[in-house]
Amino acid sequence: MHNPALVASGMEAQYVRVQVPVGQVAEAFRRLREAGFLGINVTIPHKFEALEAVDELDPLAQRLGAVNTVAIRDGRLFGYNTDGPGFLNSVKEAFGVELSQLRVLILGGGGGAGRAVLIQCLLAGCKALYFSNRTTERSVMVSLELEKMQQELGLMKGKTLKRVYWTPARLDKVAASVDLIVNATSVGMKSADPLLLSPRVIWQKHLIYDMVYRADGLTSLIRHAREAGAKYADGMSLLLHQGALSYQHWFGKPAPLEVMRAGLQAAV
Ligand SMILES: NC(=O)c1ccc[n+]([C@@H]2O[C@H](COP(=O)([O-])OP(=O)(O)OC[C@H]3O[C@@H](n4cnc5c(N)ncnc54)[C@H](OP(=O)(O)O)[C@@H]3O)[C@@H](O)[C@H]2O)c1
Repeated sequence: MHNPALVASGMEAQYVRVQVPVGQVAEAFRRLREAGFLGINVTIPHKFEALEAVDELDPLAQRLGAVNTVAIRDGRLFGYNTDGPGFLNSVKEAFGVELSQLRVLILGGGGGAGRAVLIQCLLAGCKALYFSNRTTERSVMVSLELEKMQQELGLMKGKTLKRVYWTPARLDKVAASVDLIVNATSVGMKSADPLLLSPRVIWQKHLIYDMVYRADGLTSLIRHAREAGAKYADGMSLLLHQGALSYQHWFGKPAPLEVMRAGLQAAV
């Protein structure tokens, strides 16, 4: 996705993968800067650590609580988050609607990307916003943060913002009542992964968004969405849009989106 974009833009640069052990993000950033890198993408499990390892933090990244993009300018590291805004762009492209028109359920709102997407939904002002996370401590923590942000910024006034207990019955009940269901957990990456909801609560009226990406695009959630005749988008869409926004932070101009889309399709 990024290498075809660099070629198309006539830039003599290359996008490469570097594996970094947990706890060594700051050191890795220092070395990448010294080696002359222009920018960095950060993925699982480093997005929280990256927050502390940059020199300047973008206000949105601070709100979303994670950094997935770093731009290196004049030797300084600028941290951004493109998962949240990339999610907004991809929902608009996939379903042709704004988040503000939707009642949304987010499964896995306590993870790095899940929490960013959840907060982005709050900032966008959904019609109603429900979220759940397997580990209760994490969802309680996120819930407190959301309430604080909601009060401070006066967001979603008079609308439903609710934490849902991670039990099959509760999740199914809420899922049946919303428009958009987002899987922000890592469940679905493997073929044998279970479905987090009962298939009978996924209907044709639903918009299904699975942040997980697989080469065949067929997570169990997407398979059930197809069977139900629901509209759906998989993680490739988010991958593309968060990547396009990263490009924009690195180079200060819009990304060649169609070149990146074709690159991504060719890669899978
Ligand atoms: N398409 C894209 O461009 C894109 C971008 C970012 C992320 N993603 C995908 O989004 C997913 C989440 O990313 P992340 O950064 O938030 O990961 P993360 O920080 O590792 O969080 C993982 C989340 O999944 C939940 N989870 C893991 N195993 C589970 C299980 N068996 N049952 C229920 N919940 C489970 C965790 O819940 P606990 O808190 O209980 O552990 C947590 O909420 C990943 O699949 C990632 O690949 C895609």
